[in-house]
Amino acid sequence: MTSRPTQRPRVPHFSSGPCAKRPGWTPAALADAALGRSHRSPLGKAKLARAIDLTRSVLQVPADYRIGIVPASDTGAVEMAMWTMLGPKPVEVAAWEAFGKEWVTDALKQLKIAPRIHQTPYGVLPDLAAIDTQHNDVVFTWNGTAAGVKVPDGDWIAADREGLTICDATSAAFAQALPWDKLDVVTFSWQKVMGGEAAHGMLILSPRAVARLESHTPSWPLPKVFRLTKDGKLIEGIFKGDTINTPSMLAVEDYLDTLAWAERIGGLPALHARADANAKAIYDWVARTPWIAPLAVDPATYSNTGVCLVLADSDVLARGDAAVSAFAAGIVERLDREGVALDIGAYRDAPAGLRIWCGATVETADLEALIPWLDWAFAEEKAALTRAA
Ligand SMILES: Cc1ncc(COP(=O)(O)O)c(C=O)c1O
Repeated sequence: MTSRPTQRPRVPHFSSGPCAKRPGWTPAALADAALGRSHRSPLGKAKLARAIDLTRSVLQVPADYRIGIVPASDTGAVEMAMWTMLGPKPVEVAAWEAFGKEWVTDALKQLKIAPRIHQTPYGVLPDLAAIDTQHNDVVFTWNGTAAGVKVPDGDWIAADREGLTICDATSAAFAQALPWDKLDVVTFSWQKVMGGEAAHGMLILSPRAVARLESHTPSWPLPKVFRLTKDGKLIEGIFKGDTINTPSMLAVEDYLDTLAWAERIGGLPALHARADANAKAIYDWVARTPWIAPLAVDPATYSNTGVCLVLADSDVLARGDAAVSAFAAGIVERLDREGVALDIGAYRDAPAGLRIWCGATVETADLEALIPWLDWAFAEEKAALTRAA
């Protein structure tokens, strides 16, 4: 029998979004928020502009790329890009989990642009080399949060492409290297790797993406929250903190706090290293543990943020899908009751299993403390299963 661990994670927050707050965070971090003030006041605008400037420096965004704060979180940013830029060229969409499939639905059923679809089951990346990045527009997710599968690099994207690459990087930004020269649109939200408050999306545009915006008028209607141009010219103010509509200054303050923390710990390399070390702790445990396996098939695609795991115990698997789901849920609920791991169930549409967030705001020591609890919960569930049989 696996004995009940004595050490507990100091912070049991392993959700894949909203993610754990940065180490040491307390509500005092929000004390300077411009609450009750207009976001268009000099103070409000300065904070929004600072969020953009710090995003550029921490994330190492090229000087000639625009960075905007937009409504509706990452979804808003991705859909804003799709609605404003797609149409003039053939479109290819790659999807290997729930969120990529949303962008397929948008292209196929809402925009009705008959995209070429590259869709694979959970755990497997599509053949990226089969995408014609030279001639077509491409929509894809850098890190599939529901599958724990990431794109390993941007080598498959043509350097001298004619089309645009639109990349949903919400669970990759600040954790994985993004080859800016290969990406024309990059989106993310504040509540993932940085552990900020959810509200707004970040929309980052290459000069080529701006050229598309200024040269193309979509054939479909554009709601106000999607409009990035006026009279055929980019609305530059959006990329200086003059947001389209009202942002939450509380969420802005929290994002500023996360960026200041990132700077204090050493910037982007430190954020990447923290996610890598966290994910390594989990994958090393998985490698020595027969009852659990990565959902990702190819190690080159293993995510270092939302690490997705499936059950591999032959006794459990032999009982069929419903029993496997119930078993995984049993582990998740047991650890939640114990208060040692919150929100570690697989995404609702993904194969049953566990999903453990390893982004930069999580401490490796907390994951190391969690691991014996995972083994303990498995042993308890297995014993219950054997007793019931
Ligand atoms: C890859 C990916 N895309 C999009 C979303 C949706 O993000 P949001 O809720 O910020 O709109 C998520 C959320 O987890 C995600 O993981």
